[in-house]
Amino acid sequence: MQSVLTSQHYFSEDIFDLEKEQLFKRLWNFVTFRTLLSLPNSFVTREIGGVSILIQNVSGEIKAFENCCPHRLMPIQQQPFGQSRMVCRYHGWVFDGAGQVKTIPNEDELYCFNQDERNRLCLSQFQVTSIGNLVFVNLSDNPLSIDAQYSKELQAQLIEVSRHFSDTAIHNNIDVNYNWKLNYENVLDHNHLPYVHPKSFLPLLRKVKNIEKAQESISKSESFETLLTLSDQSFSSTTPLHIESWPWHSLVDRYGPGDLYYNFFLFPNINFISLGGIIFLAQQFQPISATKTQVRFTLTTAKEKKRIPALPAILRGHMKAEVEVLLEDVKFLEAIQSNLHLHSPSVQHGQYEYRLAAFGNTYKKLLKGDCLW
Ligand code: FES
Ligand SMILES: [Fe+2]
Repeated sequence: MQSVLTSQHYFSEDIFDLEKEQLFKRLWNFVTFRTLLSLPNSFVTREIGGVSILIQNVSGEIKAFENCCPHRLMPIQQQPFGQSRMVCRYHGWVFDGAGQVKTIPNEDELYCFNQDERNRLCLSQFQVTSIGNLVFVNLSDNPLSIDAQYSKELQAQLIEVSRHFSDTAIHNNIDVNYNWKLNYENVLDHNHLPYVHPKSFLPLLRKVKNIEKAQESISKSESFETLLTLSDQSFSSTTPLHIESWPWHSLVDRYGPGDLYYNFFLFPNINFISLGGIIFLAQQFQPISATKTQVRFTLTTAKEKKRIPALPAILRGHMKAEVEVLLEDVKFLEAIQSNLHLHSPSVQHGQYEYRLAAFGNTYKKLLKGDCLW
């Protein structure tokens, strides 16, 4: 079956501009783990649809603002994450919890704003919601319900999994030279594992033959034609996992029954996984341009029952392994990107790729401006 997406969907800057408006500014976008925003004034900054966003703990409430000072448009917070009041570093304006300018140094002497002008000095605010410990932001004035994007059943699973997060995490961002959709499609494609990751990732998964059988049985009852709604595009799966047991595993509040590899595919660009309910990783394929992506990793463990002195080293070790697996994919995906030009042949999906076909259909309808909720 020929993909509905053409090569231009992977390299055209015009299409990339449309994606920003029709996908990323209309949908709920994952931004971080709630556990990383628990301290007063803790924050993360993210880019969504080309807009810099500040997500900040304001007196215990998580709020999202455009990260842009109304004075001369300086970002309020410049680091990817941290803990700091909302004070613009350029001329010292201080903002309150509603994003309104609270104090302006030497206001009367230097600025002389009238009351109207003064009232307008406010950060734009966006809606925030959480599914358990996963925080999402929506840039639309009239956001769709989160239930339209992620089914109630999937949300219940995410709430239960993320309840197990530790509040210590590690971040890593890797810049790659391909369109973000290639990476999301790649994680939906289990069939690449034996060829791309024969030594790194594949040995972790047990009974691969059974996995393929399970996938086949799913594909008989599901096809891209039955996955039509927005919430149909996000789903979870589990695979038997061979995980070496380490002493620290008994010191954390593990999720789930045991040796399973959990995948939560969250449309449009998140692969959230758990290794045995012990390690949790959000992989986000953040578009930078039509042909550049930043793969953003946030990795945490299950909650510690008692202090684990080696936790930083454990996190670093797991992150290193995850990056090595990604770099194996990157070689392939960058090679595919280099084959995309105006006249490149169409992609041909087999039946097992029905999830990719459904992704393509949904993506294309959203791009046209269709409302799928
Ligand atoms: S730009 Fe923010 S205080 Fe001047
Ligand atoms: Fe891979």
